[in-house]
Amino acid sequence: MRAWPSTRLAFGGDYNPEQWPRATWPEDIVLMREAGVSFVTLGVFSWSWLEPAKGEYQTDWLDEIMDLLGDAGIAVDLATGTATPPPWFSSAFPQTLPVDRDGHTLWPGSRQAWCPSSEVYREHALALTAHLASRYRDHPALALWHVSNEYACHNLPCYCDTCAGAFRRWARSRYPDLDALNEAWGTAFWSQRYTEWEQILPPRRTTAFANPTQQLDYARFGSDTLLDFYRAEKAVLNELSPGVPVTTNFMTMSHFRHLDYHQWAADQDVVSTDHYVVDVFEDPRAELAFSADLTRGIAGGRPWLLMEHSTSAVNWQPVNRAKDRGQTIRDSLAHVARGADAIGFFQWRQSRSGSEKFHSALVPHAGPDSERFREVCELGAIAGRLGELLGSRVESRVALLWDYQAGWAASGPAMPSALLEYSLTARTVHGLLRRRGVTADLVHPGHDLSGYAVIVVPTLYLVSDAHADAIAAAPAAGAQVLVTFFSGISDEDDHVRLGGYPGAFRDLLGVRVEEFFPLRAGESVGLESGARGRIWSEDVRAPDESVRQRYAEGPLSGRPAVTRREVETGAAWYLSTLLDDDALDALLGELLEDGRVEPVAEAPDGVECVRRSGDDGRSWLFLLNHTHAEHEIAAVGHDLVADARVEGTVVLRPGGVAVVRED
Ligand code: GAL
Ligand code: ZN
Repeated sequence: MRAWPSTRLAFGGDYNPEQWPRATWPEDIVLMREAGVSFVTLGVFSWSWLEPAKGEYQTDWLDEIMDLLGDAGIAVDLATGTATPPPWFSSAFPQTLPVDRDGHTLWPGSRQAWCPSSEVYREHALALTAHLASRYRDHPALALWHVSNEYACHNLPCYCDTCAGAFRRWARSRYPDLDALNEAWGTAFWSQRYTEWEQILPPRRTTAFANPTQQLDYARFGSDTLLDFYRAEKAVLNELSPGVPVTTNFMTMSHFRHLDYHQWAADQDVVSTDHYVVDVFEDPRAELAFSADLTRGIAGGRPWLLMEHSTSAVNWQPVNRAKDRGQTIRDSLAHVARGADAIGFFQWRQSRSGSEKFHSALVPHAGPDSERFREVCELGAIAGRLGELLGSRVESRVALLWDYQAGWAASGPAMPSALLEYSLTARTVHGLLRRRGVTADLVHPGHDLSGYAVIVVPTLYLVSDAHADAIAAAPAAGAQVLVTFFSGISDEDDHVRLGGYPGAFRDLLGVRVEEFFPLRAGESVGLESGARGRIWSEDVRAPDESVRQRYAEGPLSGRPAVTRREVETGAAWYLSTLLDDDALDALLGELLEDGRVEPVAEAPDGVECVRRSGDDGRSWLFLLNHTHAEHEIAAVGHDLVADARVEGTVVLRPGGVAVVRED
């Protein structure tokens, strides 16, 4: 990336100068330099400024700001501006507006009001992209192209007639004929047999449950459609602005699952993502770590860019509280610890009007004379010292499998338990590993699993034969594999694998399940060990020698709950309920011990430890104190946060962070 800083960790965020009078711009630049900002993302929502009328481009303001930034040595991640069309476009082409499941049009007046399948939209978006690519390709400030913004954040799924047509074409390319589609969708049931392609519709609001495989295919179609759109924009950029890397900002927060990012990753010159700390998670810090590890997995282990997060409060939850003092720094470095090579924020200057006026920014409403801005400046200075770790990697011997498609299928209608949310088991296991100081890679089941000592397969409801085979081969190669309940149940068409659950893993695990006994909200079941299980239980049959724990209560009393089957030098474990944290932690402890996986460092509860390592043998130990107490951790080297020598122990103040280049 030409203008991208190579000696400091990139630090900056979305810059929306069009919200401010020109007189503010020079002041922005001065403050950016004060804060150590080295990159900004420009033009994300600027279409109505860039093309105020059809085909009439107005870029003098962008020229000016690009020059100002370039002169100040600030790199630009230039958006294609295609995330939201201007009002003139939507009123000229109302057929491009998205439609919800009930047939309601989603009107302009917010953002991303465009149908993902619309050719008209694509044509106009590509024209704008081409205009910007030709105009700025040689601008010295241009470092990176930022295509659109958070694809699918608001406009997927769209159920409009254009999408209906596009879905039919998509289905025709997936299935050789209607018989194949009928078979895949299981239309023999409920009189759903299709006899003409024209009869196929998006899964709009139905009387009762809509066909699950139709819904799964609609999710695939949505992700594929937007990926195709992204590729079209990227092709324009590659042609007209060769040599400049291209990315689009993903949303790898664990509850956003509209796009199969594993399929999108190959088309990113560098993977970038947005993350916001959300209150819906019991432990938002754990979710942040989960998201960062997932992003690294999507990026194939390579460093990635944290394109957006918040300095303090967001404004889209029912209650939006400011971050604690020090948390801006800690949250940012928590991403860096797990592989981010850039720290980006939404946004530079907090808006005075519009929908995000109460969303925090680098420069808050209070102005630069504020504690938050001082913390931002401190973070910018730290970023300046972290350049030495660019390109280094996070190493992990533990894999946790994550598959968007399995998540789509598991979230389908009419399942055994609505309480079993796809990410729950994965997040729980990840959280416990993190608490132990063990870093896990969150990887796709198709990822090369050969290097991992421990592999956890959490509720991998849908799995292809090929992926199941790869997982099944791991214990023989020496891995400890833990498969949890509700994995291996269905195939790629979401057809149940017959003969007893968990169909795809029955032989590997040596277990057979005939029926599920999911637990009700608040209910739990006791095991002989004294542990308790929640969310799920099931009737497991397994040979006595492989049973590790049994149910001690209820209809399953005496039946196996946890099993372990030795396979050559490794083992295949099965967990049939979501154990309470202590019991699950103990179980993970056994796997880690058998797999000889050590924690990154010895640290008390609430202190997160992660290590990044360079090719040259150098390593950096990240220590993040999420507690309100002071802690001392053993380390020797140089702390890049405090810029001070560490001789034996780092003293972490409450909420403090250290990044120790280890001797
Ligand atoms: C993201 C978006 C930004 C901003 C931010 C607020 O979804 O890309 O433009 O809206 O959220 O948290
Ligand atoms: Zn549509």
